[in-house]
Amino acid sequence: MSKAVRLDKLLANLGYGSRREIQTLARMGEIRLDGEALSDAGARIALTPDLPARLSVEDEPLDPLPGLCLLLHKPVGVTCSHKEAGPLVYGLLPDRWRHRDPPLSTVGRLDKNTSGLLLLTDDGALLHRIISPKANVAKRYRVALARPLRGDEEAALAAGTLMLDGEDRPLLPVVMETQDATHCAVTLTEGRYHQVRRMFAALGNHVEALHRDRVGGLDLPGDLPAGEFRVLGETEIAALFAAA
Ligand code: URA
Repeated sequence: MSKAVRLDKLLANLGYGSRREIQTLARMGEIRLDGEALSDAGARIALTPDLPARLSVEDEPLDPLPGLCLLLHKPVGVTCSHKEAGPLVYGLLPDRWRHRDPPLSTVGRLDKNTSGLLLLTDDGALLHRIISPKANVAKRYRVALARPLRGDEEAALAAGTLMLDGEDRPLLPVVMETQDATHCAVTLTEGRYHQVRRMFAALGNHVEALHRDRVGGLDLPGDLPAGEFRVLGETEIAALFAAA
């Protein structure tokens, strides 16, 4: 049986306003279920997956229910943080979503200067499943390097012996595919701080541009422009845990 919640609490937690503001919207007939005005903001509503299609607020379909997972094409120049100065990934989402409770968080981070596939969710259990080392979710990055590759990098990364500056445990093996003298793809399951940039620094090179194009079995859609996002369905979430 689906969970039922009070309409005013549901909408307040989705960021539509205070409970008082929602009561006003309801009295004005601005909240409709299957086309019928819901004037009682205290009414209990069953949280069924089809609710966003059936419930409208000011003639717009309801926002996605909690349990939301998004795939964002992160552009270069925005930060994965709730509070740093400058443009933030959360600024790429609808304004109202900033007031959601539970809040959306990024699943891990991409550096300000890294672009590509970034997941966000309000589902703490899902977030932990994705980042847990046990899940072994692989991440693939496209790398542009400042200097030509020497030729020994694939073996050095595959060996599982490379040490990053300031660390005392070697990296797990990384799969590297060379594309040309200064471009390659790397696939890793760990997520150490600035891992790809530090990996190539340890190999005597320098990363000029970094782009993540795959997480688990999910690719960044080719038709999703930088700065835009999609809501993931169950099948795509399952694909995160499938081998690519
Ligand atoms: N490695 C990095 O160096 N930066 C990222 O954003 C992701 C992986």
